[in-house]
Amino acid sequence: MQRLSRQRSSAAEELEIIAPSKLAIEDVSKNFKGASGAVLALDRVSLNVEEGEFVCLVGASGERLVMFQEPALFPWLNVFGNVLFGLKLKPSLTNKDRHDVAKYYLELVGLSRFERANIHELSGGMKQRVSLARALAPNPRMLLMDEPFAALDALTREQLYGDLQRIWKARNKTIVFVTHNVREAACLGDRVIVFSPRPGRIREEFAVDLPRPRDINSVDLAVHATEIMKALKSYSQLEVAIAE
Ligand SMILES: Nc1ncnc2c1ncn2[C@@H]1O[C@H](COP(=O)(O)OP(=O)(O)OP(=O)(O)O)[C@@H](O)[C@H]1O
Ligand SMILES: [Mg+2]
Repeated sequence: MQRLSRQRSSAAEELEIIAPSKLAIEDVSKNFKGASGAVLALDRVSLNVEEGEFVCLVGASGERLVMFQEPALFPWLNVFGNVLFGLKLKPSLTNKDRHDVAKYYLELVGLSRFERANIHELSGGMKQRVSLARALAPNPRMLLMDEPFAALDALTREQLYGDLQRIWKARNKTIVFVTHNVREAACLGDRVIVFSPRPGRIREEFAVDLPRPRDINSVDLAVHATEIMKALKSYSQLEVAIAE
């Protein structure tokens, strides 16, 4: 693994003109004035994500209570209906096209057998798969995923790590994935970006060069995760030190 410098060379700047990033965020700040004072949630954050890249953002968790992150599926539609829903906004597709595309993505996430099932009949992992199929079906240029697997059991999560890596490669997607789970970040990301809380700043960036598909339980991956965790901890302690 490589610790990447946040400084850009002039050669890199030149090349960006030729190959523009898929996502370019430059100098973005966000300040909240709440009941408990001002919070600098983002402090001059700049980030470029290239086409086909898988980038993970990690940071310390905000004080959080136990919460179940249910994917926002429509309970009055069945599995197939949920995946079709996102395709309604594509006027270029015929009904037959929509049908075929929905079938294709349900197959991709391994849910063909359950296409007529009601949402309440599914397990948490299956719901996440439907949610993933629904997100992928309209062929978005980029997927933004905010802790999608946090509420799943370890076994289901591991399966989905494999699925997501496979789909990302097969469909050449660009993914920005937010997680608190450092191992998950090392498993999925080409790059892992470490944020500090309050002020929310990018502190470090790691390039993960392990071969894919990656196994979350591999020793190599654990070595990478440990290094990222060390960085994450050091920047979380920074906040404590400043606060004291
Ligand atoms: N509407 C708001 N009003 C005031 N402060 C806010 C608001 N939304 C977010 N914040 C503050 O901004 C910071 C970042 O919030 P954000 O929702 O991005 O957290 P997060 O990094 O995703 O954490 P979590 O892991 O808990 O989801 C927090 O300190 C929070 O208190
Ligand atoms: Mg969050």
